Amino acid sequence: MFKVAIDGPSGAGKSTISKVIAGRLGFTYIDTGAMYRAAALFCVRKCVDIKNEPEKATELVKSITIDLKNSENGTIVFLNGENVTDLIRTPEISLGASNVSAIPEVRVVLVEKQREMGNRVNVIMDGRDIGTCVLPDADVKIFLTASSEARAKRRYAELCEKGEKVTFDEVLADMKKRDHNDSTRKASPLKPAEDSITIDTTELDFNESVNVIYNTICERLEK
Ligand code: DC
Repeated sequence: MFKVAIDGPSGAGKSTISKVIAGRLGFTYIDTGAMYRAAALFCVRKCVDIKNEPEKATELVKSITIDLKNSENGTIVFLNGENVTDLIRTPEISLGASNVSAIPEVRVVLVEKQREMGNRVNVIMDGRDIGTCVLPDADVKIFLTASSEARAKRRYAELCEKGEKVTFDEVLADMKKRDHNDSTRKASPLKPAEDSITIDTTELDFNESVNVIYNTICERLEK
């Protein structure tokens, strides 16, 4: 099986870019962030305070099933069989996912699932710890990044398009907070794998970013 790991901070474009490239190569795209989001949604629904009740959150996460299905419109996320694709994209669940992903026991449960998925088919898996922890033997490891301003600008445009009422400063502050959470937590913090290739998309548009990554993967595929 050929495995591609794409890690990086929020808003670097990992999921949109990975989806397009997976489509071109005929690979399965696995959005691991969606799994942490589904886990957070379940905890919120059960009124568990994720930050202060990590044991309860872990028990809940052990009890659920999360399935990802690729469709023409992107990944459809199922939590215990229910389609929660849109419900996991709210600011509340973004923060919940960041908190739930900081619980080491939760990571053990989800990482095991991700490894299982990654060993079955050719994959492009995106997240924060794919190259360092989930698929350390990945054939290509990419660390995709961009300045926090550039990432916040893209996220702000997306939210405005959806009609959400937010300011650029709020989006930037949220982005910086999540960067801080994700890179300073004890369990698998966000960091480039030693053998990863860092690609900075601050000055690149979407198509340029896709092409750089696609070419990097193809070079390895041909070897
Ligand atoms: O990529 P995303 O924004 O959908 O991820 C949601 C949260 O989950 C984010 O705070 C980081 C965390 N996450 C993680 O810790 N490890 C992963 N492999 C994927 C996401």
